[in-house]
Amino acid sequence: MRGGVMALGVVAFASVSLVACGGSGSGGDKIKRGAYLVAVSACADCHTPGVMLGKPEMDKLLAGGNVGFEVPTLGFFFPPNLTPDNETGLGKWSEADIAKAIRQGVRPDGRQIAPVMPYGWYAKLTEEDALAMAAYLKSLAPISNKVPGPFGSSETPTGPYQTVVFPKPAGTAPALSAPATDPAAPDAPAPEAAPSTP
Ligand code: HEC
Repeated sequence: MRGGVMALGVVAFASVSLVACGGSGSGGDKIKRGAYLVAVSACADCHTPGVMLGKPEMDKLLAGGNVGFEVPTLGFFFPPNLTPDNETGLGKWSEADIAKAIRQGVRPDGRQIAPVMPYGWYAKLTEEDALAMAAYLKSLAPISNKVPGPFGSSETPTGPYQTVVFPKPAGTAPALSAPATDPAAPDAPAPEAAPSTP
């Protein structure tokens, strides 16, 4: 997982996501909390086009990523559109459906979401927080954007993708035993991988 890249993305997106929500009263507070949680959970890093290519398309914030993930033996998965568009996004999902996908990685049709979507981390969210995130996503303006796939492992994906690399047993991965260049910042992204601030 590209922790450094994701962390940078959070910094780049936090202000935008927070400005996007208005409202007052308890509904507004719930949406504000959801916006904050979505920003710090790095959802936009995967679910916004261009982020992985260093050119975030901020007018399509959370409307689906254009770089997929190959999970060896499982297939190729592109981060779907999280705006409430009825045809290409979460328009027909209830807030409870969205909260379940975030915390358990299960879609309303019962399909288990590929583990590249880090629901294992998000499982620790309270149901209330997951519902606040869902309310924020439902409050966004719907954007029509269909992401490719998902594709099986023998299919050819129609967009660019990165491959999720699993750890190898000790002794078979010399690159991993090389000393870190900067031990104080083991997560620092390679310069060419860092998205530029919009
Ligand atoms: C590391 C990249 C990554 C991050 C970070 C990420 N996701 Fe995802 N997400 C994915 C991918 C890839 C899929 C599609 C997996 C599949 O189809 O099996 C997905 C699927 C989903 C789905 C199901 C949508 C659908 O139409 O099937 C929802 C909802 C979702 N993510 C919400 C979120 C939220 C909210 C966050 C932040 C809390 C988040 N994701 C963070 C990569 C990510």
